[in-house]
Amino acid sequence: MAKLHILRYPDPRLHTVAKPVAEVDDRIRRLIDDMLESMYDADGVGLAATQVDVHERVIVIDTSDSRQDPRVLINPEIIARSAEMTFADEGCLSVPLVYDKVQRNAQVTVRALDREGKSYEFEADGLLAICVQHEMDHLLGKVFVEYLSQLKRDRIKTKMLKKTRDEERA
Ligand code: NI
Repeated sequence: MAKLHILRYPDPRLHTVAKPVAEVDDRIRRLIDDMLESMYDADGVGLAATQVDVHERVIVIDTSDSRQDPRVLINPEIIARSAEMTFADEGCLSVPLVYDKVQRNAQVTVRALDREGKSYEFEADGLLAICVQHEMDHLLGKVFVEYLSQLKRDRIKTKMLKKTRDEERA
């Protein structure tokens, strides 16, 4: 396994639309293992392939307290959404140390392929529902800060560019 470099906002590559995975093979399973290692290493609850500059529809998630319950979503689709909405703080490994509120469906039903290429469905609520919607946005080239006001987004851009510059100098 290998730790992958996570793109940081406002890197334009984060706005790439991912393609469906044609075949769940060893290459995809290696990508999944590397994404899981990178997500756990960065203390994240989810990671989309877009964030590691691979533009295929692959997501890994672990919202468990134990951090030992990895969930793999390949070619995910949301097949049902609750009318009820939730409004909660989100963060993102591509936008470190920034948290802000985003509106999402409170429950979603998801269909995806697992790491063996087998189709499965699950219902999600709470943090998992938010996480699935957040990660699926990444596959469409959308970062959560794009839900915020232009003013906030500009501030975040400035902050991220400064952070990257400071790290490069260090
Ligand atoms: Ni994210």
